[in-house]
Amino acid sequence: MQIAIDGPASAGKSTIAKLIAKRLKFVYCDTGAMYRTVTLLAKNHQIDYGDVSSIVKLMDEHEIKFINKDDGQVVLLDGHNVSEEIRSEAVTNNVSQVSAIKEVREKLVELQRQLANDTDIVMDGRDIGTTVLPNAEVKIFLIASVEVRAQRRYKENVERGIETSLKTLEQEIAARDYKDSHREISPLQKADDAIEVDTSDMTIEEVVAKVLEIVQANK
Ligand code: CDP
Repeated sequence: MQIAIDGPASAGKSTIAKLIAKRLKFVYCDTGAMYRTVTLLAKNHQIDYGDVSSIVKLMDEHEIKFINKDDGQVVLLDGHNVSEEIRSEAVTNNVSQVSAIKEVREKLVELQRQLANDTDIVMDGRDIGTTVLPNAEVKIFLIASVEVRAQRRYKENVERGIETSLKTLEQEIAARDYKDSHREISPLQKADDAIEVDTSDMTIEEVVAKVLEIVQANK
C-alpha cells in the first residue's frame, strides 16, 4: 500500500507521516530531506544554487543514503549523519531553488520510486500524489494557514535553539510556497484524487486520527 502526503511548507507533513508509518508499521520516506541534502551538498562545496551541471556532478560524486530507524529516517551524506544539518536556515531558504532543477528531480524521483517499489510506504513531499506515486491508494493534501505554519516552525526552532522572528518565518514560508507552487516541473499541487485536510485548528492526534480514518476507508 502507498500513502502519499503532500502539502506546503510546515503543514505538518513529516510529523503526521512519521506517526502514520509507525502506527501502520509502514516504511516512512521524507522526500524533502532528499532535496535538502542536495542543497547541503551545494552549500558545503560553495556551488551556486543555480549551477545545474556542478550540482548534478556533486550528486554523482557523493553518496546520499536514507536509513529507516524506529524514530524516523536518518540521512547519511558520505556516511555522515546530516539529519540535523539539513534543517538549518541556510538550507531551508535555498532548497526551493535546488528542487526546481529538472535533473535533480529526475534523479531523486527515481530513487523515491525504487524505495516504494517493494514495501508498504508513507511518503511525504510536494509531488508524491501527482508525480512520484500517481497510483497511491491514499493521497492526502495537508494545508494550514501561513500564520499557523509560521507558529509551528517558530516553536520547532525555539526547541532547536534557533532564534528567528515570527514575521520573518511567515515571509520565508510564503516565499517557499510561492516558489514551490510556481516552478515548471512538478509544482506543489493537490492531485485531483487527493483528500484535503486543513490542519489549522487540529491537534497532531486529531490529524493522525483523520488520516487513519481515510486510510481505513480506502483499504
Ligand atoms: O518540512 P518542510 O515543509 O519545511 O519542507 P520539506 O518537506 O523538508 O521540503 C523542503 C523543500 O524541498 C520544499 O520547499 C521543496 O522545495 C522541496 N521538495 C520538493 O520539491 N519535492 C518534494 N517531493 C519534497 C520537497
